[in-house]
Amino acid sequence: MPAVARMAAAPRPAAVTGAAEFPAGPASETLAPLMPAVAGAGLPAMKPSFIVSYLDQYVIGQEDAKRILAVAVYAHFRKIARAEADHTRVLKSNVLLIGSSGTGKTLMCETLSHVLDVPFVTAEATSLAHTRYVNEEIEAVLQRLVDRADGDLPKAQRGIVFIDEIDKLKAPEGEGRGSSGESVQHALLKIMEGSQVKLHTGRYIDTTSILFVCGGAFVGLDEIIRSQTHGYGFIATSKGDNQRILDRLNTRVKPTDLFTYGLIPEFTGRLPIIARFHDLTREMLVRIMTDTKNSLYGQFRDIFRDEGVELVVEPRVFEQIAELAIEYKTGARSLRGIFEELMTPVLYQIPDSPDIRRVVVSSLFTDPAYHRAPTPAGAPVAS
Ligand SMILES: Nc1ncnc2c1ncn2[C@@H]1O[C@H](COP(=O)(O)OP(=O)(O)OP(=O)(O)O)[C@@H](O)[C@H]1O
Ligand SMILES: [Mg+2]
Repeated sequence: MPAVARMAAAPRPAAVTGAAEFPAGPASETLAPLMPAVAGAGLPAMKPSFIVSYLDQYVIGQEDAKRILAVAVYAHFRKIARAEADHTRVLKSNVLLIGSSGTGKTLMCETLSHVLDVPFVTAEATSLAHTRYVNEEIEAVLQRLVDRADGDLPKAQRGIVFIDEIDKLKAPEGEGRGSSGESVQHALLKIMEGSQVKLHTGRYIDTTSILFVCGGAFVGLDEIIRSQTHGYGFIATSKGDNQRILDRLNTRVKPTDLFTYGLIPEFTGRLPIIARFHDLTREMLVRIMTDTKNSLYGQFRDIFRDEGVELVVEPRVFEQIAELAIEYKTGARSLRGIFEELMTPVLYQIPDSPDIRRVVVSSLFTDPAYHRAPTPAGAPVAS
């Protein structure tokens, strides 16, 4: 195939650098039997197990967090339906996700919003803390939610707002009440609880049914939990006690731990559901690159296939990349960068070499092997 024709066929690598791609709208006919509209209110009502299996396709590990989040949204939409039927107020349980950077907190929320087909926006707590006009910033976040719902206010009112880096709102060491972080917590309290917020368009958005999910790394929280649990930890009282359940109860984050960490009690009280994200193991990092529905490896293999080239990256390479990522301490965040760097020289070479049919990468530290189409003079050549 002439190089020009192959170039025209090649999709732009932008497809690879974008955010996670999801199938358009999960509310397809195939899912319909699993999603009866709750009380006719048109709310998603998938079973928690279905939500978890959807999340499994995109998020590796974090089994407990998946279940907690799935049950939380299931209960949330049930409560909304009940409140609408009874004309009562929704007693909302917002969610707090705790885990190191790059362990999948944002990815999980984003994936969740896709399976539920509800509008989803993220906001950074730190940027809220750095502005003098917190309420205006919050209005802007809610306006984005309305925009995501294409201006459909009732739809936006059932959306999900993810507020990241919530741990950064803690009062700085030695500083008492009144820090900027604390005033942001107060401002957030109001909308998390449910209030009417006037948008710049003049419309009002009711936040009562919006699910707020907060996320943060909470570095140092484990020491706080250990020190506070010491005196009254759960201990096995009979042989029948399940050790796994006891372990979970003993590592459970309590509102008092978050208060000791530096958040105000009123705020921690609004986040009754807490899910912990674990650090990713080497094996999980490898699976993130190879096994997810839109894995890096899959994306690159598709690009190469469009060029008429087979890409083979041997398992050892993924392990090497995972080891580097562990050293970088940014969870799965660094995988993409390392993998793309590995692919750069190959992607540079391919368009100029129409005879290349197969590329085999067998180590992060050696050049890839290029297998070319047979030349008129002889057999296929590897270089
Ligand atoms: N458990 C996971 N499964 C699959 N991919 C993951 C997982 N964790 C992280 N990733 C990958 O790493 C990227 C960054 O993850 P994400 O944004 O969810 O991290 P985070 O936990 O929100 O981190 P931060 O605290 O820094 O915001 C994701 O886009 C995804 O590609
Ligand atoms: Mg995040």
